[in-house]
Amino acid sequence: MKVTVVGAGNVGATCADVIAHKDFVHEVVLLDIKEGIAEGKSLDIWQTSPINLYDTRVIGSTNDYSKTANSDVVVITSGLPRKPGMSRDDLIATNAGIVRSVTENIIKYSPNTIIIVVSNPLDVMTYCAYLTAKIDSKRVFGMAGILDTARYRAFLAEALDTSPKDIQAVLMGGHGDTMVPLPRYTTVGGIPVTELIAKDKLDAIVERTKKGGGELVNLMGTSAWYAPGAAAAQMVEAIVKDQKRIFPCCALLDGQYGLKDIYLGVPVKLGKNGIEDIIELKLTEDEMKLLHDSAKAVKEVMDVLDNMSAPAAK
Ligand code: NAI
Ligand code: 2OP
Repeated sequence: MKVTVVGAGNVGATCADVIAHKDFVHEVVLLDIKEGIAEGKSLDIWQTSPINLYDTRVIGSTNDYSKTANSDVVVITSGLPRKPGMSRDDLIATNAGIVRSVTENIIKYSPNTIIIVVSNPLDVMTYCAYLTAKIDSKRVFGMAGILDTARYRAFLAEALDTSPKDIQAVLMGGHGDTMVPLPRYTTVGGIPVTELIAKDKLDAIVERTKKGGGELVNLMGTSAWYAPGAAAAQMVEAIVKDQKRIFPCCALLDGQYGLKDIYLGVPVKLGKNGIEDIIELKLTEDEMKLLHDSAKAVKEVMDVLDNMSAPAAK
């Protein structure tokens, strides 16, 4: 099995490092447009193999896509990250150009690959990769929900003084402030979270989760990478090992939840074919409204992309 990670920045290098450490693929290619950076980081990661005891080869490439040929899975992390004061949507014009050209090259060399998009604004960049790749949407999807639920679960573990391993949660919607954490589908060792924490505390955690990315941007001056890189690697693992895991991922909807032709975070089953199922929860009226509000916000940014791509009027 061969995996390519495009973008050897904070998220891409972390993702390649986590994949290599887990030792479930033969080769990881890390590619970046900046001369030498992917080769350098790959060499550095590979030199941890005798210490961390894995065999996965990590190979760097400066924009030479022939090295990515016949990848089974490609993770796209190339693009600008947020700076303080920026929303994820502020990145659209620059990152759409990058995601488009990267996807064209990827598909040229790996026509059968599965593509996981990480670049922001996530839902719209995933849509951009899908339009460019012209392959089944089951093979083009985005990473956000695993990260957002991880933040939610970590905050809950801290508040409840319990192991994060026992916290299961579902979160839906776009990767932005309109995301929809679902307390009704959150359990701690099988116990509904609502039985373990006061409503005001849970509401505060939901709000903190929605702004979880911004909290880190304000602390570090750029966006997060450890949890995003690990989250993307977890998706790769589920595909490569055909685990059929259920994760919230950004998927193209075709009528599910009353939504069509939109990329949005929903629970899916991930296996060797990519998205093998989109799971439809029986949402309450209030939950459904929050999801549709989030879809509206994502659709507005998708329209910006569509208008950017439309031929200029004569
Ligand atoms: P970074 O700036 O550390 O790395 C981005 C890398 O992309 C740079 O090394 C740059 O040289 C490379 N790059 C730019 N254009 C390229 C091209 N045409 N081909 C190949 N490589 C190219 O940024 P970081 O922190 O790694 O973030 C990457 C992206 O992921 C950003 O758009 C960020 O907003 C997004 N992100 C998304 C998350 C999610 O949950 N979906 C979470 C965290 C970050
Ligand atoms: C995050 O949520 C900025 O999307 C990035 O950390």
